[in-house]
Amino acid sequence: MSNVLVVGGTRGLGAALVHRYAKQKNTTVYVTSRKEAPKDFPSNVKWITGVDLTQPTCAKTIVSQLSGVELSLVYITAGIFKLESFEKPDWDTEVATYLTSAIAPTFIISALCNNGNLIKKADPPTKIILLSSEAGSLALQQAGGGGNYAHHASKSALNMVGTQLRYDLEPHGIAIGMVHPSFMRTEMTKGVGFDVAWDENDALTPEQAADLVSSWTDDEFGMDKTGQFWAPRGTRDIGSWKDVTGKDHIKGAVQLPW
Ligand SMILES: NC(=O)c1ccc[n+]([C@@H]2O[C@H](COP(=O)([O-])OP(=O)(O)OC[C@H]3O[C@@H](n4cnc5c(N)ncnc54)[C@H](OP(=O)(O)O)[C@@H]3O)[C@@H](O)[C@H]2O)c1
Repeated sequence: MSNVLVVGGTRGLGAALVHRYAKQKNTTVYVTSRKEAPKDFPSNVKWITGVDLTQPTCAKTIVSQLSGVELSLVYITAGIFKLESFEKPDWDTEVATYLTSAIAPTFIISALCNNGNLIKKADPPTKIILLSSEAGSLALQQAGGGGNYAHHASKSALNMVGTQLRYDLEPHGIAIGMVHPSFMRTEMTKGVGFDVAWDENDALTPEQAADLVSSWTDDEFGMDKTGQFWAPRGTRDIGSWKDVTGKDHIKGAVQLPW
């Protein structure tokens, strides 16, 4: 029997991960949503509602509904992407984006650990995956850009958060990884007009990305990779890859530069 938690599972990649794990025998999937539990999910999924990662109560709300539950896998998928320009940076967007992507995860993981929800020193280890982005890689942003400060920088901050949490979780035998899930055909990219590039950049459906991310997490990720930043799909969807690294695209899981 294993318990999986997906933080931000109403749509997109999070929802696809929920559907995937809910099909597994002997697995219970706990999922957070900001509002009421959405329809069209399997009845065996357990919803934790009222979890808004911009609110300081988010971690408490999660653990209050996980009393006695031992998790072996946690995905934090919630994220925000709103376009920003140099001419018009947006204060409220910046605050909400950093809170959701880079601040709330620390509080959630700390609360889960302190509340006894993360199984310690298991074999294979309990795994935590923070959904980051290649957009948060300082190295991969050296081929041009500008704007979108909050989205990109909050993912860089998330990568540093994961780097620090790695040292806090290591003594408990818990592995944490940062993952770029690929460019995806979701409301996030449609909302910023990137759907025009879905075909050209071979964007994946959330289901395809969930298959790749979950297979890599289940089969390849462990203590030997804790604190690292990976792209399970490879580099096909990373536009700056060739310019920045001088290498051809890599097919299959690749460790990304910070
Ligand atoms: N799409 C891509 O191409 C791409 C590429 C690289 C990385 N990523 C990362 O992968 C993750 C999933 O992306 P996606 O495309 O599946 O996103 P999405 O379709 O926009 O879904 C975002 C999810 O985050 C939740 N969320 C947003 N703000 C929240 C908040 N303040 N509190 C709690 N939940 C919140 C949403 O819940 P509601 O339904 O309540 O809004 C929704 O479940 C994100 O972290 C994203 O940054 C995506």
